[in-house]
Parts: sequence; structure tokens; C-alpha cells
Amino acid sequence: MNNLFQAERIDGKGFAANLVERLAADVRSIKTDTGLTPGLAVVLIGEDVASGVYVGAKHRQTQAAGMNSFVHKLPAETTQVELMALLAKLNSDAVVNGILVQLPLPAHLDANAVINAIDPDKDVDGFHILNAGRLATGQDALVPCTPLGCLMMLKNRLGDLTGLNAVVVGKSNIVGKPMAQLLMGESCTVTVTHSKTRNVAELCRTADILVVAVGRPELVKGDWIKPGAVVIDVGINRIMRDGQSRLVGDVAFSEAGHAAAITPVPGGVGPMTIACLLANTLTAFRRQHPLHTNQTIAG
Ligand code: GUN
Repeated sequence: MNNLFQAERIDGKGFAANLVERLAADVRSIKTDTGLTPGLAVVLIGEDVASGVYVGAKHRQTQAAGMNSFVHKLPAETTQVELMALLAKLNSDAVVNGILVQLPLPAHLDANAVINAIDPDKDVDGFHILNAGRLATGQDALVPCTPLGCLMMLKNRLGDLTGLNAVVVGKSNIVGKPMAQLLMGESCTVTVTHSKTRNVAELCRTADILVVAVGRPELVKGDWIKPGAVVIDVGINRIMRDGQSRLVGDVAFSEAGHAAAITPVPGGVGPMTIACLLANTLTAFRRQHPLHTNQTIAG
């Protein structure tokens, strides 16, 4: 990094902390007004270490925001029928407002069938086919947490996004596709690139907003970035550099000094994901109790 690095570092960690503070205040008023406590159920199947760490963080932050957290840890051999039975129970449990099944699932389980067995109005991941359809058609959806967090940071930095050129690198169901839908919803002109795109660097250079979510360390080089662009780096990749283990994004951060702003890794998009999970849980609670509460931060 040199002295010419002028890009603002977007403080996702601070943004997330501020969002969680506001959500916790909302939870306190909901409790006072209704006597009810919003609740999130998280289902973890198997022993995947990274998934265990994520679920632990979700549990702690849900409780810290004043909500109920119900963690269901099931063995790796859990059958599809057993998992469906648990989801049916959670779907009909009134104290559970949000349900999340941690991915990836063990290979013998059908992830699409599992996701689509969650009540769409409790689907705080926004992965259910009905929420994907609602988002695509501009109806009230529960929106996947990571792209929702990216959009919040973009609007905070840029205000009105109307007419801006946005390029989304990566077409996953979890980030790329819903990100593109959200940006279209803000009247951006959206291009989605992926591993088979022929002129990806050239397309990226047209972007006023560049969102990168591919899981490839430092794929996006400095000369892919238009001067003055706002860059959102969703990647979190562990690499070895100079004999040390380091986290890097999908963007070569040190080459991005001519951007107007960029999210660092770590401390950018990552902290926003759990904050938006809590926001979605509150949105789901409010839609399930429309007579009691009508404010909303995320929905
Ligand atoms: N595994 C990695 N990211 C996610 C996520 O956002 N939601 C779920 N359910 N599983 C994940």
C-alpha cells in the first residue's frame, strides 16, 4: 500500500455494531409493548468446524440483541425425514420467528428440499424459492443477509443509486443473484459476470458500483476498477503469504487506492451478515405480528 491510496475504507464492523444497537433497542420496545420476545432457531447438522464457529457467533449475537436463540445441533447421520420433522415443528412454533439451517449440509441431504420446507415467512436466510421469487418481482421478501448488508452500506455511502452502473462478479444464489436483484430494485443498470464471462476486466471497468463474491483470492486487480468506483468485497479467503496465514478478499485491496471507497477484509462485509440476520429476524417477527409493531429497519 502506498501514500496514493485514497479510497475510503468502509467500516462494516462499525456499521454492523450500530445496526445491532438499533435492533436491540427495537427488541426492548417490542418486549415492553407486547410482552413477546423475537426468537431465532438455528439448525446445525454434523461436525463441520467452520459451520460450528458461525453458529456459535449467531447464537451469541442473537442473545446479545435481546432475542431468544434456539440452537438445534443434530448428528451428521440425521435423515431427511428427521430434519423435515424438526422443521415442521419449528414452522408451527409461535415463539420461533426465524429459522436458519446452516449450510453446507452433509451430502446425503437435499439442500433445496430442506430450504423449501422452511415456512417462507420464517426464512431469515431468504433462500426459499418463494422469497427469491418475491425479491425478483419486487414484492416484500426476506432478503439474503449478505447482499442486504452490502446494499445498506452502498446506500449509506452513495445515497440514491438510480442510474448507476453496477457490476456483480459471481452468480451464486446466496450473494450474486440476490445482489443483482436488489441493485435492479434501486434502478441501477446491472451486469452479472461469472467464471465463463469473456471480458470480465473490461466489464468491471464500467462499474460505478463493483460487488465481488466469488471466493477467489484477489481475483480483481487494480486496473479492473474504475477511478471513483465504490467496491464491495464479499470474499473471505485464507491464504499463506510470506510464511504467514492471512485473510484476503476477492479484490487486490492494495491496488484499489483509486476507488472512492472499498470494504476491507476482514472488517467489511463479514460483520454485516449476522447483523442482517438479526434484522431479518425482527422483520419476520413484525410481519407475523402486524398489529403490534410497524417500524422496520431492513424490510
Ligand atoms: N453457510 C455459509 N453462509 C451461510 C448463510 O448465509 N446461511 C446459511 N444458512 N448457511 C451458510
